Amino acid sequence: MQPNLIDHHGRTIDYLRVSITDLCNFRCIYCRPPQGVKLIPHSDILRYEEILKIISVSKTLGIKKVRITGGEPLVRRGVVDFISRLTHEIGLEDVALTTNGSKLDEMAPGLRDAGLKRINVSLDTLRRDCFSAITGVDGLVKVMKGIETSFEAGFSPIKINVVLLKGFNEIDVAEFARLTLNRALDVRFIERMPFGNDTEPINSPNSFGAVEAIGIIEKSFGTLIPLESSALDGPARMLRIKGAQGRIGIIDPVTGHFCPTCNRLRLTARGSLRPCLLSPLEIDLRSFLRTDPDDSQLEAFIKAAVMAKPASRYSNLQRMETGMNTIGG
Ligand code: GTP
Ligand code: 5AD
Ligand code: SF4
Repeated sequence: MQPNLIDHHGRTIDYLRVSITDLCNFRCIYCRPPQGVKLIPHSDILRYEEILKIISVSKTLGIKKVRITGGEPLVRRGVVDFISRLTHEIGLEDVALTTNGSKLDEMAPGLRDAGLKRINVSLDTLRRDCFSAITGVDGLVKVMKGIETSFEAGFSPIKINVVLLKGFNEIDVAEFARLTLNRALDVRFIERMPFGNDTEPINSPNSFGAVEAIGIIEKSFGTLIPLESSALDGPARMLRIKGAQGRIGIIDPVTGHFCPTCNRLRLTARGSLRPCLLSPLEIDLRSFLRTDPDDSQLEAFIKAAVMAKPASRYSNLQRMETGMNTIGG
């Protein structure tokens, strides 16, 4: 029998998101302040060996899926080897990655060989100038090439994450939706969440929500068809344009209510367990790990973090002190 990690609210937690670095080669307006983020001392970042230990113990507790995030995970040296150890030594079947796509044109084939199953690419616009304005880097062409290379390497479906940014990408919404017509692409629109590095006030006029995005798409492509969500869809509500090959997803952490089905735990680059993305609670696993606990002590520590998961965040959506770059979304 597979073990199960069940929290106080009856939810099975089988998905661990792991940020392997707080560093990134982009400076997205909603993630990093213009003056840059504080550098974390190298010794405060978990070593691969430590991350593998945590994942291995988590697997025995019931974690089945691991997603590698950042910062930008592909800028950390040795990441391909690390993923290979995750899939081959620890034997995790579902290992996925969320990336800004900037290094996929070079790295996608190697990642595939390492056993990576799925890739999500963060991409907020299809226009070069707007891309530079959002990320601070003239990198759209390279990201698009990276998505192509990932398809060629055999990743399918590829999911594109679009954070809804008023004044920047309203006019991209329909074009992103168009991409789903002829390809096995999932394009998912995400409501902007108030994280520490984001200088916009909460409820600022610079965000727009899921309802508006759906409205924009339906104006061009007609009524969207709701689809049954599978476990692989996470918090996304999935829809399809009539006749399209790919799908459209809506992730609405600000206006929606998906906490009752939450199945995840997060490990930050500094080695803290974060029971809920939208609650400030972090539990310092790194210090505990460096006391050299045995597996059963480590198991108890991780279970306690799962038990600390709140039922939901909805009563108190406040700005998070921590930057998204250390949590990884
Ligand atoms: P799949 O495994 O493909 O379902 O991916 P995913 O949606 O879990 O991962 P991805 O990194 O693509 O996440 C998309 C974004 O959705 C995240 O970065 C967050 O912005 C948001 N999101 C995902 N999970 C949660 C969650 O549990 N709570 C909240 N509030 N937002 C989430
Ligand atoms: N609100 C919503 N999504 C965000 N992401 C990063 N910061 C925010 C935010 N403030 C998304 C990225 C990426 C995922 C890991 O998190 O675009 O797709
Ligand atoms: Fe889970 Fe917290 Fe996200 Fe709700 S806000 S889905 S409880 S991580």
